[in-house]
Amino acid sequence: MNPLDGEEPREYPDHIPLQFQPTWRKDFPTDVPEDEHVARREFVKFLVLTSGAFVAGQCWIAIASHRRTSGPLPRLRVATVEELETKRVVEFRYPDEYEPCLAICLEPGRFVAYGQKCSHLSCAVVPHLDQGELHCPCHNGHFELTEGRPIAGPPRRPLALVKLDIQDGVVFAIGFEPRTI
Ligand code: FES
Repeated sequence: MNPLDGEEPREYPDHIPLQFQPTWRKDFPTDVPEDEHVARREFVKFLVLTSGAFVAGQCWIAIASHRRTSGPLPRLRVATVEELETKRVVEFRYPDEYEPCLAICLEPGRFVAYGQKCSHLSCAVVPHLDQGELHCPCHNGHFELTEGRPIAGPPRRPLALVKLDIQDGVVFAIGFEPRTI
């Protein structure tokens, strides 16, 4: 329906009838009722799109988290014990290629592994072994190294903790440990 239906014929600033107006004036109406109608329609479109994107994002997070916590998860070879003790940190992806993780050697024979996504807004955390922590450069978040719990900055939840298994000198990722805040 034309938003101007039922209204008085439009009066242009120069008082010249519509048929003699230049094309640009017909294409870009300047009268307030029509402008408000377009703005409202655009605003509703914006609301619908952003709400849809928000709902889709929440669904994606729910599905990803369900996939992570519900089994069975793959058994993935991360590194040999020797390699991990030498390098101290080995990057890997688990349970799929979209989830970067870090295996860390705390001391010979003692290993932990975390999801690398910061629990605040998913930036990649960086291990600082000499300081005994993992650091998130995005908003200066800090996690302690032995359990991946937040100790400073905006993060409130611990890092995802990967369950490890060692067999015949090889370290495997086999799932995720349930975490409490
Ligand atoms: S994303 Fe890590 S502190 Fe914000």
